[in-house]
Amino acid sequence: MSARRPSRPRARAGRDVTGTELELEVGPVAHGGHCVARTEGEGRVVFVRHALPGERVLARVTEGTEESSFWRADAVRVLRADADRVEPACPVARPGLCGGCDFQHVALPRQRVLKAEVVAEQLRRLAGLDVTAGTDVVVEPVPGDTGDGTDTGDAAGGGGAGLRWRTRTRFAVDAEGRPGLHVHRSHAVVPLDDCPISAPGVVGSGVLGARWGNVEAVEVAAGSDGGPPLAVALPSAGRHAHLPKLPGASLAVRTADGVHRVSGRTWVGERVAAGGREHAFRVSGAGFWQGHRAAPGVLAEAVLEAAAPRPGESALDLYAGAGLFTAVLAAAVGEQGSVLAVEGEERAVRDARRSLHGAPQVELWAGAVEESLADEELAGRSVDVVVLDPPRAGAGRDVVTGVAGLRPRAVVYVACDPAALARDVATFAQHGYRLDGLRAFDLFPQTAHVECVARLVPA
Ligand SMILES: C[S@@+](CC[C@H](N)C(=O)[O-])C[C@H]1O[C@@H](n2cnc3c(N)ncnc32)[C@H](O)[C@@H]1O
Repeated sequence: MSARRPSRPRARAGRDVTGTELELEVGPVAHGGHCVARTEGEGRVVFVRHALPGERVLARVTEGTEESSFWRADAVRVLRADADRVEPACPVARPGLCGGCDFQHVALPRQRVLKAEVVAEQLRRLAGLDVTAGTDVVVEPVPGDTGDGTDTGDAAGGGGAGLRWRTRTRFAVDAEGRPGLHVHRSHAVVPLDDCPISAPGVVGSGVLGARWGNVEAVEVAAGSDGGPPLAVALPSAGRHAHLPKLPGASLAVRTADGVHRVSGRTWVGERVAAGGREHAFRVSGAGFWQGHRAAPGVLAEAVLEAAAPRPGESALDLYAGAGLFTAVLAAAVGEQGSVLAVEGEERAVRDARRSLHGAPQVELWAGAVEESLADEELAGRSVDVVVLDPPRAGAGRDVVTGVAGLRPRAVVYVACDPAALARDVATFAQHGYRLDGLRAFDLFPQTAHVECVARLVPA
């Protein structure tokens, strides 16, 4: 059975079957945080959340009509449970409630097995690779999050394996001004007074206990440098926001013309140990930063391992954000080498400039990666290594073609969506680059997300 990622049931005609309850034998996991089942008799595909492969469940349809090609459903009662089913740590990680976590009902080690199956399936289906979960694709836990009984808790304030890891959380705000998270595939907000996967600094910011008038969302960032967390409110379109006082956090407002300080700082500080050194970063306005408290260090080490940059080499860091990989690449190639970083967000480029001002081998370009790769100045350069870390949609054909055209000795692709990675790996293959190594990390415990670091080399 194909485990491709569905969007919305295709045909909308026919009687709405939302709310119908079905007994289902649950099949394999699929990309998107659900498992695949088929209705008895007609064999219609049903994507079921809150289930596990091999279980028998009573599922309530959440989306679909008599004519649609597949239905979506939620397991509201478990008739035969898998041994890896556990009680969710969060009271709203349940059918019909918060859509933030997909896998809280699954033991952590099994979550990683499910994610490895999804990554392998995407690479087989979209990149035509002969790979198997468990051997070729293993999802690795990060320190403190193994969930196998050996975790000793985490330095950041704990909460148990797979919990309190998230240093960046975007809370939606409901009509009464209460922050929370969306119901799965819905605009409805589940108000929260805690989010057990969010870091102590995020929850301790006081954002959840406050009321936010004319605000559509609040983004909270908790840095690792010991400074206060930052809450950035996004006002509802055309409205003046009524903001609470947050004694434990900095507060800012983001509008179309920028991030405006209300109290405290408009940035958080980050410290990352990688490559035998500590690097310091500034991240403004709740801009992009890897979300798991361990992610910056784990990914920076994985990128160094895969790229193996040598002193004097020339590296390219595409989609560079605030300069995480730029910094570790710069330290590895040294002042005799060079690193060109390209990032589309002006604010992130300013942050990177500030953090990397002492590294003369670093050049920062603000602009779209697509345009930079088409720039004659870049096309004429000799590039040894390319690191790219695109957003969820992936790099796409033009960027992959441009990167391969530089003929680097190695490409390191950091990916938060295995389907986008697999599509781009297929394009790299058309340009003479093969997958030479893949590591996958459980940087999003309790959710269906997984981060991959792929190494590609000339075939
Ligand atoms: C997944 S983040 C990676 C950031 C950085 N590598 C890190 O680890 O912190 C992707 C970054 O790409 C930037 N971005 C998205 N589309 C872009 C484009 N077309 N051109 C340049 N940058 C882009 C975003 O602003 C974001 O900073």
